Amino acid sequence: MKIEFREGPIEQIEIPLLAASAFEGAPASSGATEGLPATTRAMLETLQKSGELTGKMNECTLLHHPPGLRAERLLVVGAGKKEKLNAGAALRLVGTAVRFARGKSIHHMGWVSAGSGLEPVQHAVEGAILADYDPDKYRSDRNTSRRIDQLEFLTGNSRPGKAENVELERGRIIAEATNFTRELVNEPSNRMTPTLLADQAVSTARKFGLQSKVLGPDEIQALNMNAFWAIAQGSGEPPRLIVLRYDPPGAPTAPVIGLIGKGITFDTGGISIKPAQNMEEMKTDMAGGAAMLGVMRAIAQLKPAVRVMAVVPAAENMPGGRAYKPGDVITSMSGKTIEILNTDAEGRLALADALHYAKQQGGTVLIDAATLTGAVTIALGNITTGVFGYNKEWVNRVLSSATATGERMWELPVDDDYRDLYKSSIADIANTGGRYGGAITAAMFVGEFAGDTPWVHLDIAGTRWNYEEKPYLAKGPTGHPVRTLVHLLMNIA
Ligand code: BES
Ligand code: MN
Ligand code: ZN
Repeated sequence: MKIEFREGPIEQIEIPLLAASAFEGAPASSGATEGLPATTRAMLETLQKSGELTGKMNECTLLHHPPGLRAERLLVVGAGKKEKLNAGAALRLVGTAVRFARGKSIHHMGWVSAGSGLEPVQHAVEGAILADYDPDKYRSDRNTSRRIDQLEFLTGNSRPGKAENVELERGRIIAEATNFTRELVNEPSNRMTPTLLADQAVSTARKFGLQSKVLGPDEIQALNMNAFWAIAQGSGEPPRLIVLRYDPPGAPTAPVIGLIGKGITFDTGGISIKPAQNMEEMKTDMAGGAAMLGVMRAIAQLKPAVRVMAVVPAAENMPGGRAYKPGDVITSMSGKTIEILNTDAEGRLALADALHYAKQQGGTVLIDAATLTGAVTIALGNITTGVFGYNKEWVNRVLSSATATGERMWELPVDDDYRDLYKSSIADIANTGGRYGGAITAAMFVGEFAGDTPWVHLDIAGTRWNYEEKPYLAKGPTGHPVRTLVHLLMNIA
């Protein structure tokens, strides 16, 4: 999608579709509709009076041959209540317009007002590119003609400066990285094995100038990553430990941010096997790892002055003949022993060794993203990512980056009082803490391996996937929490 600014009087622009947002209550005379000529607004006024135009969130009103304009059509997108407009809402407005236009096979459109303060340029660009994605790669009738070729941000009489152009480029980089993550998450497990995920990581690193290293079964065992190895044992697919590094010359030596992403390319549950119903969803159990690869891709282009390392333990959790079993005791890379009570609580085992490895490789702040528990979806649904950590400063940094980008996140507690839930009668700790507080005990298990290093855990089991098509977003992978983490890294530097 070509996105650019266009100056000049709105009423003179010849284009298949002009789109503008309008607030609830006074859609004909608020928001971007203020920038339209008086005759156009008079027409909107009539629609407002008749109740056809309300300005309610994501309402789409299409006018052909709009009076006062040379554009063939005018689309008014409801922006909801003015006081509720935030980053997420701004992004959705442009997204709604893009998906509406696609539905009408329109390929060229203009957006009134981006950058005027209503919809910041970066959010507008992100909204457009995220909306133009569909997980339809494997459909023979894939409608590639249903994509927007050209989107113009109409700035009226004001000339966009350097700042606006920088924002546009930043939005594009971040949204394209998010879509890259969505593509990885969408791949079925036969086409996204640990080996293929590592190949994707290496080719991305090459393309964007990152250092990469991939460890296979021998190296993983030689490092005593027995917790990670235990998962991989049951599968014919060999595991991969994927390591990407971004070390910009001249960046301060600390902090070194370690981004750890769960990379289970399929989670059957292992011997503690999952029910058949919805098991196909477990192809997305590498969403945390895919997100970290997306973040690395974005920062390789945005170039913040901060050192970052991504560690993605990639394996398949299968009930094969060599699979690990309930009751097994495993000595993790850190030396802590773990009693396996449920082989379906595998993510925390992979993270345990990956966190330890990231620390050993010099990580001074650890952030992990993982589709770790069904329990977090009971607490927060599919809307909000669960945020955990003992270090208030870093938890708050993540939360404020989430607010700034419109990705929803909420802190859940970690507290010593929960520790008894995952004690083991024969080893240092057990790998499950029971049903109650399941997202918390899983997080705390992972935290045991961060030790004193500042650590934030993001449970994205709910937010990795959008279960219902939205006016601004396809059904399918969301790319959470790429945008939050990129924002965080950009604001450390
Ligand atoms: N990958 C799952 C968690 C999950 C559930 C992700 C639903 C996405 C959607 C994880 O490995 C798992 O199986 N967790 C168990 C833990 C339990 C055995 C303690 C769970 O949540 O049931
Ligand atoms: Mn599992
Ligand atoms: Zn899992």
